[in-house]
Formats: sequence, structure tokens, C-alpha cells
Amino acid sequence: MQTRQTIAIIGATGNMGSAISKSLAKGNYRLLLFGKDESKLKKLELTILRLHPDADVAPITCSYTASWEADIIISAIPYPAEKEVADRIKEVANQKIVISIANPLNDTFDGLVTPPGSSAAEELQKLLPHSKVIKAFNTIFAADFPKTVPAATHTGSFIAGNDPEALEIVSELVNTAGFYPIIAGDLSASRILENMQLIKILQLNK
Ligand SMILES: NC(=O)c1ccc[n+]([C@@H]2O[C@H](COP(=O)([O-])OP(=O)(O)OC[C@H]3O[C@@H](n4cnc5c(N)ncnc54)[C@H](OP(=O)(O)O)[C@@H]3O)[C@@H](O)[C@H]2O)c1
Repeated sequence: MQTRQTIAIIGATGNMGSAISKSLAKGNYRLLLFGKDESKLKKLELTILRLHPDADVAPITCSYTASWEADIIISAIPYPAEKEVADRIKEVANQKIVISIANPLNDTFDGLVTPPGSSAAEELQKLLPHSKVIKAFNTIFAADFPKTVPAATHTGSFIAGNDPEALEIVSELVNTAGFYPIIAGDLSASRILENMQLIKILQLNK
């Protein structure tokens, strides 16, 4: 049997963090839910256990400890907060997969704040040079995660990254979450993926 991987979800109580946590709870994973608010974390833990009584899930209020224990770290926080969190977890994130889900939107949701020729994922890779940053989930809205996950849906979820083994591991994870994984390219393809989501948001806000 495959070894159970431990996943730290940083920002687990947010819209995306909770959707991802719930969707992964049926997989062969140990989930460490990191958030600052203990009561929100407890509520999320109880919701997950109601949906999946066998889920291996634990709330945790220290991002360093969660990342230290994890094999995979999901950064489910706003882009502007990533530097602060990356600085905190940097030394325990070495050689680990770090999933960037961020869309680096400006305050008016009509543009991206990343430097030209870069992306949130590439900026996170610069902050965590010894981690394997993989882009995933940024093209899916939190509301579009399947409420129940009987099997992978036909909704594609794009992935980008430089490490072939990490791409494979994240593809499995995306599949467990209920999506059809599509590898878009190396990490620089995140520029396209983040712009794609901007186009969707502009369309919704018309
Ligand atoms: N919402 C979507 O449909 C969607 C879709 C694709 C990608 N994304 C991306 O997903 C990320 C999260 O978006 P969201 O909509 O889930 O936002 P959200 O609901 O506001 O949740 C953000 C989470 O990050 C935590 N957080 C914020 N600053 C932090 C810090 N400095 N240190 C630790 N934790 C911090 C928040 O905790 P507190 O509440 O305790 O502050 C909260 O749990 C963003 O990068 C966004 O671009 C969102």
C-alpha cells in the first residue's frame, strides 16, 4: 500500500483552503489544517469528519510545525501574504512540494500585481528556492469544488511545474480532489494560468 502523505494546508479556513481540505479528506492523506483562528479550525475539522468519518485530519495553529510535519504544503493564502509565510516556513519546506494556488489580483480585480514576465508561482519559487513549487487549483473557483467527490469530474484543473515527479504527485492529488489534471508546462506556464483566471474574473465582474 502507498505511504500516506501528509499535506499542510496553510490558510485552511479560507474559501479555497476549506474547499481543498474537504475535497482531499477522502484520499489517502493526513491533512494538517493550519489557521490562526482555533474555533474556525475546529469547525472545519468537525465538518470534514462529518463528511468523511475516517479522515485523518488535525488542526494546527503553527505554520512552521505544520510545514515541518508535511510532505506537501498547499499555500491557500492571498498573494500579498505569501512572503511572510514563506519566510516563516522556508527552512522546513526544503525539497518539499509547495502548491501555489494564488491569483495575484490587484485591489480592483482587473489586473495582476506580479512583475512583467513572472507569476505568483515563480515569485513563490524565488522565496522558497529549495522547494518544488507547483501551480495548481488557481483556475478553479472555491464554489466549483464538488460537494461530494464520487470520482474525478471532467472539469480540467491545470498544473504547472519544473519537477516531473512533483507534477505526477500533484496530478494524483488534483484527481483525488475531483478534477481532471492537465499539465500545462513548466512553472513559467503559471503566467498563462494566472492570466486565464483573470480573464474569467473580468468576465464574471462585467
Ligand atoms: N476564492 C476562489 O475562488 C479562488 C480560486 C482560485 C484561487 N484562489 C486563490 O486562493 C488564495 C486564497 O483565496 P481565498 O478566496 O480562499 O481567500 P480567503 O477566503 O480570504 O482565505 C484566505 C486564508 O488565508 C489566511 N491568511 C491570510 N493572511 C495570512 C497570513 N499572513 N498568514 C497566514 N494565513 C493567512 C486567512 O486566515 P484568516 O482568515 O485567519 O486571516 C484565510 O484562512 C488566494 O491566493 C486566491 O488568489 C482563490
